[in-house]
Amino acid sequence: MTDLATFAQGLPKAELHLHLEGTLEPELKFELARRNGIELAQKTVDEVRATYNFHDLTSFLAVYYPAMDVLRTADDFRDLAYAYLKKAASQGTRHAEMFFDPQAHTGRGVPFADVIGGYRRAIIEARADFGISGELILCMLRDLSAEFAMATLMEALPYREWILGIGLDSDERGNPPAKFAAVFARAKAEGFLLTMHCDIDQEGSIEHIRQVIEEIGVDRIDHGTNILENEELVEAAKARGLGFTACPVSNSFVTEQMKSDEIVELLRRGLRVTINSDDPAYFGGYIGDNYVALAEKAALTREDLAQLARNSFEASWLSASRRDAYLAEVDAYLAAHPA
Ligand code: ADE
Ligand code: ZN
Repeated sequence: MTDLATFAQGLPKAELHLHLEGTLEPELKFELARRNGIELAQKTVDEVRATYNFHDLTSFLAVYYPAMDVLRTADDFRDLAYAYLKKAASQGTRHAEMFFDPQAHTGRGVPFADVIGGYRRAIIEARADFGISGELILCMLRDLSAEFAMATLMEALPYREWILGIGLDSDERGNPPAKFAAVFARAKAEGFLLTMHCDIDQEGSIEHIRQVIEEIGVDRIDHGTNILENEELVEAAKARGLGFTACPVSNSFVTEQMKSDEIVELLRRGLRVTINSDDPAYFGGYIGDNYVALAEKAALTREDLAQLARNSFEASWLSASRRDAYLAEVDAYLAAHPA
């Protein structure tokens, strides 16, 4: 590893854009299939990876959702999240706000309580074992109906202590944020923080970004780098201190590029852009790897990387006292590792 890569991996950071179901590595997939008596079409890890031939969001999701079928019990969800938190901690992650997609499981008969109960257990155990803190963001699947999303929000209310915020993911095409205005208004009224995916180079990207800022009133935007096409929206995001959760390695799978120029422009203009891993088991890079990939592509310095890490805590939903403690860790790390 280069010195800069070692620096980037060890840098204290928060992960704010991570789909727990996107951390299902082929090895764990085989283990869960064996445990649950499921016959898989692929017999080796290489055969599984050979099915990962996606070129855009839709073709990725077509591989992603069927793979989740091996997740059946609370223990399965626990093992998935625990393995992720262990790996994330090994790449400098001090705090992770993690997405999960309950509808992808309840829709095939897995009880909501088993999904969230397993994830919650992993968070408690990983905190004790690796010192990493974890929180959950419940994502609604935007290609399904607003009614199903509202029912899912109601199902989640008894677990509100375990859920920090509500997000929106899955296929953006034809599914604008405004489709879920009533669900997100209710979520806000119930005290949840809000975030939504505005994926890269979508049909209507700018209109979707406008909706999340002006109509929904989100507390953060997932991806959202297309905002640079509209100066007024950039100014609005800056004035509100909105965080952007960019995912460079993921971008290079669902578009032709990492969008490094856009990420660096947001950074240089003082917006709260952060670096994250999205679906690391599918895109082959956990969070530290994303910092390294971007640093190499865009010739970033240690100070740039430290600013991205500061942004990750500033855009997080931590309390002010915990956030400030992590920011001090970033500064101490930078001071202890001069170029
Ligand atoms: N689900 C998992 N990863 C996603 C992404 N990058 N965009 C939308 N939905 C997702
Ligand atoms: Zn995502």
